[in-house]
Amino acid sequence: MNTIAKIIKEENHRQKGKVILGFMLTILLFSCTATEGQDQSAMDVTIEALMVKMTIEEKIGQLNLPGAGDITTGQAASSDIAQKIKDGEVGGLFNIKTAEKIREVQRIAVEESRLKIPLIFGMDVIHGYKTVFPIPLGLSCTWDMSLIEEVARVSAQEATADGICWTFSPMVDISRDPRWGRMAEGSGEDPYLGSEVAKAMVKGYQGKNLMADNTMMACVKHFALYGAAEAGRDYNTTDMSRIRMYNEYFPPYKAAIDAGVGSVMSSFNEVDGIPASANKWLMTDVLRDQWGFDGFIVTDYTAINEMIAHGMGDLQTVSALALNAGIDMDMVGEGFLKTLKKSLNEGKVTEQQINTACRRILEAKYKLGLFEDPYRYCDAERAEKEIFTTENRSRARSIAAQSFVLLKNDTQLLPLKKQGTIALIGPMADNTENMPGTWSVAGDFEKSISVMKGVEEAVGNKATVLYAKGANFVADPELEKRISVFGKPTYRDNRPASVIIREAVNTAKKADVVVAVVGESAEMSGESASRSDISIPETQIELLKALKNTGKPVVVVVFSGRPLVLKWEDENFHSILQVWFGGTEGGNAIADVLFGDVNPSGKLTATFPQNLGQVPLFYNHKNTGRPLQNGWFEKFRSNYLDVSNDPLYPFGYGLSYTTFKYGEISLSSDHLKGNESLTVTVPVTNTGNRDGKEVVQLYIRDMVGSVTRPVKELKGFQKVMIKAGETKNIRFTVTPDDLKFYNYDLVYDWEPGEFEIMAGSNSRDVKSKMIKWMK
Ligand code: BGC
Repeated sequence: MNTIAKIIKEENHRQKGKVILGFMLTILLFSCTATEGQDQSAMDVTIEALMVKMTIEEKIGQLNLPGAGDITTGQAASSDIAQKIKDGEVGGLFNIKTAEKIREVQRIAVEESRLKIPLIFGMDVIHGYKTVFPIPLGLSCTWDMSLIEEVARVSAQEATADGICWTFSPMVDISRDPRWGRMAEGSGEDPYLGSEVAKAMVKGYQGKNLMADNTMMACVKHFALYGAAEAGRDYNTTDMSRIRMYNEYFPPYKAAIDAGVGSVMSSFNEVDGIPASANKWLMTDVLRDQWGFDGFIVTDYTAINEMIAHGMGDLQTVSALALNAGIDMDMVGEGFLKTLKKSLNEGKVTEQQINTACRRILEAKYKLGLFEDPYRYCDAERAEKEIFTTENRSRARSIAAQSFVLLKNDTQLLPLKKQGTIALIGPMADNTENMPGTWSVAGDFEKSISVMKGVEEAVGNKATVLYAKGANFVADPELEKRISVFGKPTYRDNRPASVIIREAVNTAKKADVVVAVVGESAEMSGESASRSDISIPETQIELLKALKNTGKPVVVVVFSGRPLVLKWEDENFHSILQVWFGGTEGGNAIADVLFGDVNPSGKLTATFPQNLGQVPLFYNHKNTGRPLQNGWFEKFRSNYLDVSNDPLYPFGYGLSYTTFKYGEISLSSDHLKGNESLTVTVPVTNTGNRDGKEVVQLYIRDMVGSVTRPVKELKGFQKVMIKAGETKNIRFTVTPDDLKFYNYDLVYDWEPGEFEIMAGSNSRDVKSKMIKWMK
């Protein structure tokens, strides 16, 4: 079959006898697909048979991905997009939902267009579909890859039941700048952890068989370096050395490719002075030639058109640049649709390039089984049974509870008892719609569980729960408008702040304990939600001050989609619980942790700075020639006059209601050679009186290199349940592969010498030993 496919390909390229060949191939194809399933050659035959029949316009049409606009059922057939679909000018649609609506649009494609090619339906299913799980940054704090895979699997199960077969996830952009609102969508600052998460998500979405009706194609994004936008301002320029790209920012994208991700999305930013969508080095040399990616590349939303503003030329020029770079599909902007034919006639792109892009998109459709059954993902009965089920919601609840990070609890105020009077105070204390956080396109916001509801249900009639809003999210009404554009209401209280606070103080005075639920609203992080001040807004700080002054014990529960500056809170309160945005079941999960039904086990995947001036602050930094030696200011060393170099809470940090003690690490050898492997053993004892989960972390420092190396790098972790009083010996195996990095010539290898092996409960508190590892 391979030979036949090859011959056909050559024939096709010669552009001879298209119609006859098409007919012959249809017959051939009929006899092949039945027996060979997803076999590569059967796919080639199907696609070749189709492509010989396609006009150049129809091929370009496949490269076009419009948004669904406002198609509603019944309207679909008469919409603007419907006409384009009939004319073969659309390859897929995105952010349209429900099996019924998608079936109707698909029907137009497969019944009313000339070649009846099915459409691919995409969506931003980023952290769940109707059952919304924690935002990705929160999910990463579980450090539990099987849970993360499960989230992706459940998301796929629900989304595919509703007609969607392609998700614009995982977002794997490494970011070290919490001003950037989209940190919420990724897994934080670490390339190793980010790579593990990327693999788990691709596996969860795509499963073992993409043709199954409950798996979907993943799309890793945003390639590349989107998280390194200057000043943390969204869509801004990035500029970095290749050695940093390869060692620190590329690994999660590559991990997704190695895990078999079906598609890649190009980013908005420029890389090396060329916008990603026109960057041939990035899209072809790195992605395809070096990493062997064979799926298709879609741009981000209007990214081709935006290259006009980047200063790369007019629409025809930038569209040709994108195709030449290796982009296959144009999201929303229609630059391909409007200009590629002209560019072809003028010799600015080749027919071969258009064929290649078209083939890749048709291949994706084939792999998803859409040629076999275009309605494969439109099963209203499945949608009825499999979406937002009790089982999925209870998974969401348990996973959310594991994403929370206990930042401080020095007087063991937490867990609370289910007794007496508890006052819930703050703008997130009784807000349902903001619980899901950013990017919850399909979620029904009003079906989420608020903190108030979760706490009330948890205590039943054992305790009295009081509520006061206490503060608006932000004082400035204009700013508040900017953080509620997507229908997640903030319920602004227009009374003077002092009146709102006084009411809260009166409520607090009636309580035995106060839970202050503060921080960001959902839309204060996410896309186009960069902040130049990453503190809890001033008006909420005023509330916290007033609550503190009541003398009541106060637990601070912080919602945010990024690390915040919590120095003042840390200095003034005994218990702080970071809850990100926990999703549909967030309120129940928060109650589970507040009352100790779940022992918190989340650990930070992004550093919390002491102040914004320290940013970018990350654990795996370089040493410099003048590192600090005594932890605080020293003249002529690399530090600040006014703040130490320490973070407030380091990467990997998070407390539990129990305590863990780390013993000395032991090594199987301190002199290794070649491909030997090292076993690192670290005894961890649960010294408290509750069972608890601990994330044991392994870091390595390469002491001397041909290029400078970070002061430590995460190389392994294990999340283990340790019973009260129990000691577990945690073992890690290190091989030379773990020592590899890209050198100055971008060769990936390890260099012999001395290494510091470290293990601990976070990136700061580690036990360490030295080894020598020679070639
Ligand atoms: C975002 C992408 C998203 C796309 C489609 C863009 O604005 O940057 O992450 O997948 O929209 O909704």
